[in-house]
Amino acid sequence: MSFTQDQVQKFRADFPILSREVRGKPLIYLDNAATTQKPLAVIDSQARVYKELNANVHRGVHFLSQESTDAYEKSRRKIARHLGVADEAEIIFTRGTTEAINLVSRTWGLANVQAGDRVVVSRMEHHSNFVPWQALAREKGAEFVIWEIEPDFTLSLERLEDILKKGRVKLLAFTGMSNVLGTINPVPEISALAKKHGAQVLVDAAQAMAHLPISLKDWPNVDFVAFSAHKMCGPTGIGVLWAKRKTLEAMPPYQFGGDMILQVGDEVTTWNELPWKFEAGTPNYGDSIAFGTALDYLAEVGMERIHAYETELVHLARQKLLEIDQVKILAPESLALHSGAVSFTTGLVHPHDLATFLDAEGIAIRAGHHCAQPLMRKLNVIATNRASFAFYNTRAEVERFAEVVRAAMEYFG
Ligand SMILES: Cc1ncc(COP(=O)(O)O)c(C=O)c1O
Repeated sequence: MSFTQDQVQKFRADFPILSREVRGKPLIYLDNAATTQKPLAVIDSQARVYKELNANVHRGVHFLSQESTDAYEKSRRKIARHLGVADEAEIIFTRGTTEAINLVSRTWGLANVQAGDRVVVSRMEHHSNFVPWQALAREKGAEFVIWEIEPDFTLSLERLEDILKKGRVKLLAFTGMSNVLGTINPVPEISALAKKHGAQVLVDAAQAMAHLPISLKDWPNVDFVAFSAHKMCGPTGIGVLWAKRKTLEAMPPYQFGGDMILQVGDEVTTWNELPWKFEAGTPNYGDSIAFGTALDYLAEVGMERIHAYETELVHLARQKLLEIDQVKILAPESLALHSGAVSFTTGLVHPHDLATFLDAEGIAIRAGHHCAQPLMRKLNVIATNRASFAFYNTRAEVERFAEVVRAAMEYFG
């Protein structure tokens, strides 16, 4: 089940920024793949930390320190529950998806990937799930392999199997959902295939977590999952790495310093238990706590319905854009495989000119390579336009957006 427009209006009232005017026009915010807006509950939750319970976590016996530590650890439990994870020590707070992936690359990767091994990423990766693996492979003398996309903007299991059959694949890193194409990748099938061939699997869930109902119970063959709070109505500067306890215990620490130690000797230091072994220094408890509030909010709205409604918006955007001559949509045909974002080219107007034209009407969309230059090269474009949606966008906003794209085509044509 999806949402009625009345329900969407109620959600909108929770997001103060959505009532802003931009360039004298009501804001139409269609850059949700870059970051989502924040509901008042999240903004208040963060403010409450600093107004009422601010004290460094894990450090003091005093009341406030205990209160902030409790709130910080409670947020970790909420995240575990949201993911369907029983052991909350498997939730490592990071600065975001990028840091979570770098953590894996710099700890597990350095320890496990050897010369002659192969590291595979898909062609549709964000730079943050491409460059760390490329750099690691170069450093270790491993082979960096790109799993190419198909002409229909999907990934093929047959093509992956051909790569895996050649052997020595240590890691497959791929996105659950493309930030450019909106393609939804079948994580259970892909990860099962990789596991059959002995590879470890990392899923970049930055977009998938924001748009799809996900339980990690459905991803039994995935070893690492990374995502960011700011794409899920939460604050910036906080995200999560999830991995199984056994895997995390075998991994060397990422950064060294306070909180991640057990005993510091003059010669040798021992490491703290999970999850703190990977959380050196004062953690970002203010944002971690507010992230817990964001997950409460999303749970109330309902991830199943968010996915259903956003897919309707994507469908509407596709329909309206395709009514405009020369517009080409870069997405899988099937809506079962496409949600969240619509990338398109017009063949006439440069993407930056189009985004500027829309901006003059208060409409925020993205133009550029979307941190996916390897994908742009394959698609043979230097940039695309991308409109990306959240459950607080209305059908009227999507219609207005398409209308202004049409006006831009007429203007530039
Ligand atoms: C698919 C994907 N992966 C990774 C990232 C990087 O996320 P962050 O900048 O929050 O680390 C993004 C952000 O746009 C993304 O869309």
